[in-house]
Amino acid sequence: MNKYDSELISGILRCGNFDIIDDIEKADAVLINTCAVREHAENRALSNIRQLKNLKKRRPEVILGVLGCMSKYLGSKIIKDNPFVDIVLGPDSYRKLPEILKDKKRCEDIFTREYENYSDIFPLKKKGVCAWVAISRGCNEDCSYCVVPYTRGRERSRSVKSITDEIKRLLDEGFKEVTLLGQNVNSYNYQDVDFPGLLEKVSEIEGLKRVRFATSHPMNLSDGLVDVMKERKNICPHLHLPVQSGSNKILKTMRRNYTKEKYINLVEKAKSKIKDLTITTDIISGFPGETENDHRLTVDLVKKVKFDSGFTFKYSPREKTDAYKYGDDVPENVKIERLEEISEILREISLKKNREWIGKITEIMIEGKSRKSDSKVFGRTDGFKKVILRQNNFSIGTFVNVLTTDATSHTLFGKVVESKET
Ligand code: 5AD
Ligand code: SF4
Repeated sequence: MNKYDSELISGILRCGNFDIIDDIEKADAVLINTCAVREHAENRALSNIRQLKNLKKRRPEVILGVLGCMSKYLGSKIIKDNPFVDIVLGPDSYRKLPEILKDKKRCEDIFTREYENYSDIFPLKKKGVCAWVAISRGCNEDCSYCVVPYTRGRERSRSVKSITDEIKRLLDEGFKEVTLLGQNVNSYNYQDVDFPGLLEKVSEIEGLKRVRFATSHPMNLSDGLVDVMKERKNICPHLHLPVQSGSNKILKTMRRNYTKEKYINLVEKAKSKIKDLTITTDIISGFPGETENDHRLTVDLVKKVKFDSGFTFKYSPREKTDAYKYGDDVPENVKIERLEEISEILREISLKKNREWIGKITEIMIEGKSRKSDSKVFGRTDGFKKVILRQNNFSIGTFVNVLTTDATSHTLFGKVVESKET
């Protein structure tokens, strides 16, 4: 979502006749977009900001801006601690940027009352074949650990037309796949069109090869969604379904509104209907009050569900959340031990599941050059598995059938057995 926001900000600047350049030394303004979901993200952003102090000393005319969720979360503290920063804008104030930059004035605008959805702004993207498209902003859930409802405000859904128009324009620019984004896509609702309804409309757009979406909250994952995923060929069989914990006691204090049993049931039902469905997840370890027994329940759940992959996070206390008041009672070393145990189990399961693909043929779309070597390209299966090809004679956006020859916990390796249309 933050990367999409950076594209939105670039789109807003382009409309204001600014050029976006990569070379910081030549820039008239340097803007840092930030996240506040965990302290780690905040520390990284703060260290990036501190590094700009020298630039400002050398070139005092450069305007430095801090944007995004951390601006809202830390507010005036950013300029107080870093007086060389000129602009601090929260996630709903980006439209003001061109004016502020033209006027070259210092500005802090963190508490706008207007919640934005930037529906009329076309994000400025790097060329490619995969694009993100936000379908909603903000979040109406009330997870006790999460700062997003505070930083991004109440959920508001974009109109169906603004979403489909943006996708059609992306297709004109050569994109072939979109990932619909929302903090909780399943609660999308615009004039009685719900998320399955939106997915149906999006999947009908001519020329759109693949549709993905994230994130799904288990609480409102409906039968309707599973049915649409099953029916529509271009909707990818992948659910990113954060479980957060396998302990009902912890899920309750996290205010996730489902139990472990309900989660398992949802996954089993979806898997029984959708062939080769990939399930990925997020897990927090060391939430306040998490005992060794709660942790074991999470381990059991991970083994039972056999996630294709998962992100694991150490609980990070965030002010302005209810969990902040519960204290942070799991010692750091215990949090790390638990996180490492879960990560290791996730890795083992991923490896086992990925190795099951060896000897099988699957379709991938080529997405780009491999990061490690120019002589290789990578693509993804519809289930979001990354596949590396030791060949580079395929252009980006081509669909090919690939025989998987090897696998690690992260990646499949394969060779093309049939090239298809682009
Ligand atoms: N501490 C640790 N992880 C968190 N997440 C959200 N808030 C916190 C927090 N305070 C994780 C959740 C969520 C993902 C995007 O970030 O797992 O699904
Ligand atoms: Fe945060 Fe929960 Fe909303 Fe996700 S669903 S953004 S974890 S409040």
